[in-house]
Amino acid sequence: MSNPTRAKITALGTYVPPHILSNQDLESMIETTDQWIVERTGIRERHIADKGVATSDLAVEAVKKLVESHPIDLQQVDLIVVGTVTPDMMYPSTACLVQHKLGIANTWGFDVSAGCSGFLYMPGGGSLNPASHETVDKKMHYIHQDGQQVFKYAVKKMAEMTQRILERNHLTGADVDCFIAHQANRRIIMATADRLKMPEEKVIVNIDRYGNTTAGTIPLAMQTALEIGKLKKGNMVLLAAVGAGFTSGATLLKWAY
Ligand SMILES: CC(C)(COP(=O)(O)OP(=O)(O)OC[C@H]1O[C@@H](n2cnc3c(N)ncnc32)[C@H](O)[C@@H]1OP(=O)(O)O)[C@@H](O)C(=O)NCCC(=O)NCCS
Repeated sequence: MSNPTRAKITALGTYVPPHILSNQDLESMIETTDQWIVERTGIRERHIADKGVATSDLAVEAVKKLVESHPIDLQQVDLIVVGTVTPDMMYPSTACLVQHKLGIANTWGFDVSAGCSGFLYMPGGGSLNPASHETVDKKMHYIHQDGQQVFKYAVKKMAEMTQRILERNHLTGADVDCFIAHQANRRIIMATADRLKMPEEKVIVNIDRYGNTTAGTIPLAMQTALEIGKLKKGNMVLLAAVGAGFTSGATLLKWAY
């Protein structure tokens, strides 16, 4: 019988740009307070890329960190997949730019855009509403979302998906060692964990330090889990995310290293 294991996570490399934007900084930029942001979302600070630093630059730094801790020959890489809603440019894909910057010769790649844009989209800048003075003036390049609806949908969907994947594998929340959910809002994560009867010590939350980094939240939370010793070889790990589309997914895996 063939081995049913089709893929393993055998190394992790993450990177965030050094410049921090705190809630206090935001207080001086827009009408808000640190208390409101922390109470409603759990976010205290986020990392901001400097002007001229693109998504591919962040990805390349993450790969360099990965190679530092787990030396591998990058020329052996078969495929590069970049999850992003902020590609360097419309085309080529950011994966191609990462491939070029890392000098990996014989690989291919593509981008996956299923980030967390919310209930209503970013309408401007595509083929439907090409960028123009008017789209910029009307702020059509910004993301619009109905936050309250997103909140309710995210809790309901993440609980549903995680229950389904556990049932399919004849497991319950008690069998899970580590729950890593998309970090969009601390209350969404904890409400989902509550529905799964998952104790707080199994739930990874680092949104306070990074904010919502869209496709980056789960790997960053894995890094946090590794650093605080909550992710060890053989652990049963449950991943869940809800994002733009709406798209949603859950994965159950055993940690491989
Ligand atoms: C934008 C936001 C900060 C505004 O906060 P707010 O207005 O205080 O939101 P609320 O606390 O009222 O929550 C929104 C809804 O979820 C409900 N809700 C709150 N806690 C809940 C829980 N534990 N379980 C289920 N629903 C819950 C609220 O009752 C409310 O529904 P209602 O409008 O029908 O009363 C918040 O709604 C939010 O973070 N939304 C999600 C945004 C997001 O994460 N976007 C990225 C997705 S990837």
